[in-house]
Amino acid sequence: MKHPIIIGLQYGDEGKGKITDYFAQKADWVIRFNGGSNAGHTLWVDGKKIVTHSVPSGILFPKCKNFIGAACVLDPLGFKKETDEHKASGLDISPHRIKSDYRTHLTFPFHKALDESRELGSGGLGTTKKGIGPTYSFKVDRRNIRMGDLFIDEKGTRERLKDSLAYANALIREMKGKESSLKENEDFFEIISLFKDYVSFEAAPFYRVAQKEKCLLEGAQALSLDIDHGTYPFVTSSNAMPAMASVGAPFPHSKLGRVFGVFKAYMTRVGSGPFATELKNETGERIRKNGSEFGATTGRPRRVGWLDLDELKNNVELGDISDLVMTKSDILSGEEKICIKRQGEIIECEGWSETLSGDKLSKPLDRYLSLIEDYVGVKITLVGTGTDRKSLFERNTLGDLWS
Ligand code: GDP
Ligand code: IMO
Ligand code: MG
Repeated sequence: MKHPIIIGLQYGDEGKGKITDYFAQKADWVIRFNGGSNAGHTLWVDGKKIVTHSVPSGILFPKCKNFIGAACVLDPLGFKKETDEHKASGLDISPHRIKSDYRTHLTFPFHKALDESRELGSGGLGTTKKGIGPTYSFKVDRRNIRMGDLFIDEKGTRERLKDSLAYANALIREMKGKESSLKENEDFFEIISLFKDYVSFEAAPFYRVAQKEKCLLEGAQALSLDIDHGTYPFVTSSNAMPAMASVGAPFPHSKLGRVFGVFKAYMTRVGSGPFATELKNETGERIRKNGSEFGATTGRPRRVGWLDLDELKNNVELGDISDLVMTKSDILSGEEKICIKRQGEIIECEGWSETLSGDKLSKPLDRYLSLIEDYVGVKITLVGTGTDRKSLFERNTLGDLWS
């Protein structure tokens, strides 16, 4: 049995959460393998909205277990807030349903302070200020604390934390040009202790599981935000490539299967960086409003633009995508003029007033999809026609996700 992966093909917020939730109906596990609480994945079911950040998007199905992989970063304060919110919504967040790898690196309040200080300076990238970059930097610099460390060696971990904190204070002092005296936060360890039962201490947690249980690997961020393959330096701090699922979960690489690349019918970007097809006009504002294009994590207005097929094709090839999913076709309904960038040129496409005509996709929308498929060379399996889990049109047979 091989297991599917869900990847973002643009600048994040393509609707990965919705697709993960849709597939999770039949899954035993949903696994996150990159990023942290910079992710905001929105799920809509029967008029109710749930946003997941660090918790994987399999949370709505009681039989589905959720795993936060080793290459993710986890902010215990944010995780507590998020799980409290899910609990208040009536979801089961008990430890038998959610596990974090013991090697997952922790985001401390000082990482967030560092992220914020940097954003205030001239080198700001428009990050989510969730402390993601500093957590990964400390990890690579061998200065960070992992989820399981406190339970393995409390004394040693506290000593290492003191050194990390001193280093963070020195960095902030240098950036701000004035004294910084961030202190160790006692509550922080108390909160980590609350999560002891959520920690998995297994070295290869999916080596055997992948033989018999259905897993779904939920990517966060997207290929144009990938630290190695995105629009550097305007990127996040982790890899969003499908191969990262193997490293980041960790997941046996021979058991990785179909790769679903999710993209919007148009494009959005939050934060700074190049955006060739950006619409800084009334059309952009209308799409932003109709599409509720405001960040699920920060609430910031998302920049909006036409679909860039050159970038999409590039990312489809980079990610070796086997199936495409296009979301938000309904948001362009009624637009008189829809444009697309292909071979460096903006071309005009016929608009559509409705996404569906009877039980079929409307003809102009179908032609838009064919134009994308022909250029990119991969079939569009699913088309999003609304926010709800049910608003997905199967354009090509979905087939078995676990074959
Ligand atoms: P993610 O980060 O990739 O999971 O995406 P986000 O949840 O941040 O942003 C996607 C937004 O688009 C959410 O508000 C979803 O509810 C919404 N969405 C996803 N698919 C569709 C669709 O086909 N139509 C509409 N109208 N909204 C959609
Ligand atoms: P999901 O999983 C959209 C963007 C930030 C910023 C850059 C670096 O919901 O698609 P970071 O806080 O990661 O250091 O910020 O990356 N960014 C996202 N944009 N969706 C996301 O996640 C994002 N995660 C990070 O806006 O430009
Ligand atoms: Mg999002």
